[in-house]
Amino acid sequence: MNLDDFDRQLLAEVEQASSPTVAALQSRKRYLQGNGSEEQIKRRKTQAQARDQVPAPSFNLRHAPPMARGIQLVCTSQMPDRVSAIFPYEILNAVQSKCFPVAFESNDNLVVSAPTGSGKTVVMELAICRLVMETRNADFKVIYQAPTKSLCSERYHDWSKKFKLLGLDVAELTGDTSNDHLRQVQQARIIITTPEKWDSITRKWRDNRRLLDMIKLFLVDEVHILKDSRGATLEAVVSRMKSIGTQVRFIALSATVPNSEDIAAWLGKSPEQSTQPARIEVFDESFRPVRLEKHVYGFQYGNNDFSLDNHLRKQVPDMIIKHSKKKATMVFCMTRKSALQTAQTLAEAWRNSERHQLPWPAPRQIIVVGDTVLRDTVQAGVAFHHGGLSVEDRHAVEQGFLQGFITVICSTSTLAVGVNLPCYLVVLQGTTTWATNAMQSYSDLEVMQMLGRAGRPQFEQSACAVILTREQHVSRYQKMVSGQELLESTLHLNLVEHLNAEIGLGTIRSMALAQKWLASTFLRVRVMRNPGHYQLEETNSHVGTDEMLQQWCEKDIQALLHANMVEDSGRLKCTELGDAMAKYYVNFDTMKIFTAIPPKAKLREILSALTRAAEFSEMRLRSGEKSYYKELNKKSEIMFPVNVDIALPEHKVSIILQAELGGASQPDGENFRKHHQQHSTERLVIFSHANRLIRCIIDCQIYMKDSVSVRNALELGRCIAAKVWDSTPRQLKQVPEIGDVLCRKLASQGINSIEKLLAKEAYQIEMAVGKTQPFGTRLLAKLQSYPRLRVSIKEMGREIKRGHGATLRLRVDVGFLNTKTPTYFHKTPVYVCFVVEDSNGNLLDFRRFSAGKLESEPILLSAVAEQPLTHVGCSVMCDEIVGTAMHAELKVSGIPDAVFPAGIKSRPGPRDVDHPAIQKASQVATAFDDDDIEDADLLAATEPQ
Ligand SMILES: Nc1ncnc2c1ncn2[C@@H]1O[C@H](COP(=O)(O)OP(=O)(O)OP(=O)(O)O)[C@@H](O)[C@H]1O
Ligand SMILES: [Mg+2]
Repeated sequence: MNLDDFDRQLLAEVEQASSPTVAALQSRKRYLQGNGSEEQIKRRKTQAQARDQVPAPSFNLRHAPPMARGIQLVCTSQMPDRVSAIFPYEILNAVQSKCFPVAFESNDNLVVSAPTGSGKTVVMELAICRLVMETRNADFKVIYQAPTKSLCSERYHDWSKKFKLLGLDVAELTGDTSNDHLRQVQQARIIITTPEKWDSITRKWRDNRRLLDMIKLFLVDEVHILKDSRGATLEAVVSRMKSIGTQVRFIALSATVPNSEDIAAWLGKSPEQSTQPARIEVFDESFRPVRLEKHVYGFQYGNNDFSLDNHLRKQVPDMIIKHSKKKATMVFCMTRKSALQTAQTLAEAWRNSERHQLPWPAPRQIIVVGDTVLRDTVQAGVAFHHGGLSVEDRHAVEQGFLQGFITVICSTSTLAVGVNLPCYLVVLQGTTTWATNAMQSYSDLEVMQMLGRAGRPQFEQSACAVILTREQHVSRYQKMVSGQELLESTLHLNLVEHLNAEIGLGTIRSMALAQKWLASTFLRVRVMRNPGHYQLEETNSHVGTDEMLQQWCEKDIQALLHANMVEDSGRLKCTELGDAMAKYYVNFDTMKIFTAIPPKAKLREILSALTRAAEFSEMRLRSGEKSYYKELNKKSEIMFPVNVDIALPEHKVSIILQAELGGASQPDGENFRKHHQQHSTERLVIFSHANRLIRCIIDCQIYMKDSVSVRNALELGRCIAAKVWDSTPRQLKQVPEIGDVLCRKLASQGINSIEKLLAKEAYQIEMAVGKTQPFGTRLLAKLQSYPRLRVSIKEMGREIKRGHGATLRLRVDVGFLNTKTPTYFHKTPVYVCFVVEDSNGNLLDFRRFSAGKLESEPILLSAVAEQPLTHVGCSVMCDEIVGTAMHAELKVSGIPDAVFPAGIKSRPGPRDVDHPAIQKASQVATAFDDDDIEDADLLAATEPQ
């Protein structure tokens, strides 16, 4: 902390203090002003810790502890030397001091509700220090959760430095974490993560109870996100920690909310006293170090978000004149284009103003930027900023703003998250934005983050926020900014998926435990208080809310049992289908579609199931898009054109997916061009879901032992990952040097696969594409890492058991033709899938391993054939690379039909294998003996062919 921060915080408290110690505090402030820099303060502190040689201050805080707002302020020197070193402040502020006794001197769970910037982080630090003091050197872990990656990384940087002083390792766990990194995370004492990441990690750690048992402190920052759609995950992970009965202490920090006592009731006081509420400390807006003036303006303007946006844009110049005091301003807009247009509007308004009435000062210096529109607006001290700008321009705008050469930045909401740009005034030009795949209202968290840009303590002592929205939303935003909006749960919206995940994890093993789990959720607390919100009124009034929850639980678990996601063999357990649903975070309705894929499904049928996933339900056709997608659907590159009227999300998803895989260009022309950007954005969303969904389909088909569907699903998975169709010349596009043009040139010369390309000499490649040396050599060198698989299969023996079928002992040789094992392709680890099937389409074996683990040893396996077969096939392929599939076949003859269970001459559909009724039928069949088989035949049949 620098002196200014401290100064301001202290001043805020002194201003509000009502005790006689004001004078003492003021003298302390003078003392600090006169005594210098952060370094000096730190140095003094260290010296003091070394041997209590406190430099003589103007008064001794130990003897006259200062008060603020009736709260006795705590000096960090009161804490044991070992831990006090991590606090850069000598005095804890009022919020922190009030929380000190619970956070540092007790083990109770604690909920703190306090305004932005009031110093809540310290409360968590106090709890960590308490744990360090209590546990000494025993093994423990602390989990810190915040809703965004940027909050996590801010915390990580701060805490890794601070807690190094106490010898605690800190690890950040967000986004993709490699296995190596995961080990580091497992070793760290403090793990910083998002609820989503923690959820997926604990799902992986389910067998590692020891690690979960080591968690002693669970810190939930920004717990008010419970009401956002993502809040359900937070609720689920916290409830999971509570219900598995670990000895965890919870500290939850929240912005101002009216029902923080519900969070306290949810968390409970301690594992032993879980029915009593956690301790709770509430601080109102007056504890905000920077006063924030808030204004919400409502407008009535059409139904279309875009026309409203245009209307709001016209209001922004006046809003700035009215509220900005000519100081730094940020305007948040719903799209990039909108940000650019608002910057232009503002620049024009500034230019049209009288010289002596400029809404903000003329820039003292004109920053240098590349973008031509930006170059124009910065002359008026206005800039726009979004992900579409070059990195250099973005940096120049940020620096220009910090140095005061730019007074107004118009940006999309992403800037509120990633970059630390403080300002005086924040304007929200509308409250909707493009989120995931539709126009949506900003989440509360987004609004808070945008407003949080205003009045950073180091920048201003007061600040202003202006929200422009639709008339009908005014009261909602008024409530939100004044912290009056009730926190509700969102867990009920996906209760069935959460129940399935908890069953998979073993948290729920019976109906009784399901109820116990549900009773440990925030949902239960809120249902009790506000049943109307959860649509429970229409139910029998004589049924109590607990009974209602119980019925919900039973209904959902029955649905899971019925859909074969869960089985009940005295204990509730996920089937492999339920496991896949949890592992890939797939919607229950989607699972029902996936499990109804027809037997021996073709690529087209699998694609169709994928596009019908509930995850795509928001991909509706927007106005004017129908003719655009009709046009795209006509292109020859669309492998499976939609042959019905294009009207549903699944049609759109299918066309977008196929257009990408087939390389179809976007329809051009005046009427179509306006849909290009939307198409590109939605494509990203579709592919991000599709990768996950296809993995789930593969797992389901493996479970159903349908080898044809497995192979086709694997093929679609490869195509989606590589973004090109397999078995088309476009597979060449996987080579970095080859774009659309080269790909076409090569294909026109008959070089239509990577295999064919590899068979050419460098000069032949150069001739084919009209390039000069050393292009061909370079290309071939690059292709060295393209995995080329080989496979062969041989029968090593067989056992025949009358009426039970034949067991074939097989030897499969799988390897690479490459001189060096291609463990990586395009910097991504290479995985190989291995499928063994019989001629009836039954999956006999499936394996997946990393290229590095593909031993030179052959794979020996026994495959049980339960029905007459003509051959066994073996396919190998790389998981995400097209053009790599190889196939080998082994003819099988000489097994008399009569060996197989009587009555099953040709096998029923593969999925019937796992159908309990069919299994029983085949057991009955085996009861008939095979007496009609000649012994000699039987003997001959046991010899390999
Ligand atoms: N005791 C203190 N004395 C002086 N400054 C402090 C003190 N405690 C915290 N600060 C400073 O106050 C600022 C806000 O603290 P912090 O980030 O913990 O607030 P917060 O309540 O978590 O806010 P938010 O709601 O934005 O997360 C920080 O810059 C921090 O360094
Ligand atoms: Mg905070």
